Amino acid sequence: MSKDSLSIKDNRTGKSYEIEIDDGNIKAKDLRQIKVNEDEFGMMCYDPSYENTAACKSSVTFIDGDNGILRYRGYPIEQLADKSSQLEVAKLLLDGELPTSDELDKWLSDIKEFNNVPDGIENIIKSFPQDSHPMGVLISSIAALGTFYPNAKNITDEEENYKNICRLIAQVPILAAYFYRHSKGLNIVPPDDSMSYSENFLNMLFDGDEKKMNPALVDAMDTLLILHADHEQNCSASVMRNTGSSEPDPFSSVASATAALYGPLHGGANEAVLEMLSDIDSVDNIPSFLDKVQKKEVKLMGFGHRVYKSYDPRAKFIKKAADNVFEITGTNPLLDIALKLESIALSEDYFIQRNLYPNVDFYSGLIYESMGIPTPMFTVLFTIGRTPGWLAQWNELLNDKEQKIARPRQVYTGYDSRDYKDISDR
Ligand code: ACO
Repeated sequence: MSKDSLSIKDNRTGKSYEIEIDDGNIKAKDLRQIKVNEDEFGMMCYDPSYENTAACKSSVTFIDGDNGILRYRGYPIEQLADKSSQLEVAKLLLDGELPTSDELDKWLSDIKEFNNVPDGIENIIKSFPQDSHPMGVLISSIAALGTFYPNAKNITDEEENYKNICRLIAQVPILAAYFYRHSKGLNIVPPDDSMSYSENFLNMLFDGDEKKMNPALVDAMDTLLILHADHEQNCSASVMRNTGSSEPDPFSSVASATAALYGPLHGGANEAVLEMLSDIDSVDNIPSFLDKVQKKEVKLMGFGHRVYKSYDPRAKFIKKAADNVFEITGTNPLLDIALKLESIALSEDYFIQRNLYPNVDFYSGLIYESMGIPTPMFTVLFTIGRTPGWLAQWNELLNDKEQKIARPRQVYTGYDSRDYKDISDR
């Protein structure tokens, strides 16, 4: 009979080890017993960028990257994007179940109750240069927001945590909109409690401009937020968990996750895609651009994914949402370049052999741009969408008895001990 264990023979010593297999995996710490000498530290797994390391057990989001499947708490992303709303999805991510009608009403009213940003925040945001990158401002202002809620550091107090989860979900869009208005030299538009989450956000940006707040655009915004709401242990969620593991207030953890999202290889790709499409400028330039990609001089931004080795299901859905938006706004001139770029890339060996497909960010920027949102704000929208997911990951971390402060090991490759040299001898 087969056993749920792994037999390892260390050919350096001739010793054999039985390592328990739990749910198809081994515990990396079980390898520690493998050593040549008793005074050695023991064997570790070397896994730069954690390509094959499960750092937690999670029941929030499921991804099957080979088959392009994404589910939040078991519900297919396509159904949620079609039928749900961002705040309902947020509640699902946090609690594990879709809320009943009473639970949803209470949740929506709690989010509204906590949507008053502290007075000092407006001054902080207005102190940034108008041409600052909005992600820099968002990272700073989320961290600053936490200073107004000193009890937020009591992370063993569930009631306090709930309030701060509501505050973060309600107030991150407000910080974003305040800075947008400041960057344009416009008056601040306060939140309007009579509006839905996405309508309120667009209103805070565009001050009731009817063209930019068409219900189809509000719907598209909500869909985009849902599609971005969680994505299991990606770079920013891992940062959220790593920061959270040292037990600071959740504002600090969300600020750090926002910083991780900012980079062009992660959430910043939506901004980079638009810049790339603008630089390509015309479909005639696509072959020479793809030539540069294959020579590894540049990357095809919005393509490729650590987990998806087939079409990103979010990108499929975003392509559909784009049609609804373009019906209202007129087509985006960069769309033709994007479509042609995708179709040529998907037929070229370089991309086929590496399983490179469009990811969520390939088309999202085109929608945002058509909605009148400036390119540097794109990753800000991703942050608003992702905040509930980070908080669901954080909640799970706090309740996971197996978790401790995150602290990877290293394989040291530096000098052995050597003596300090006086500056005159160097
Ligand atoms: N353009 C060109 N080549 C690419 C691309 C790309 N976008 N992505 C991967 N490759 C190539 C790599 O050069 C590598 O080639 P090689 O085998 O000849 O060395 C191969 O494909 C495998 O790629 P890795 O870099 O090993 O894949 P990894 O999982 O580390 O990276 C990542 C994933 C960061 C998303 C990468 O595909 C990328 O940089 N894409 C562009 C940026 C982007 O769109 N990021 C958004 C991701 S989705 C999100 O975070 C919301």
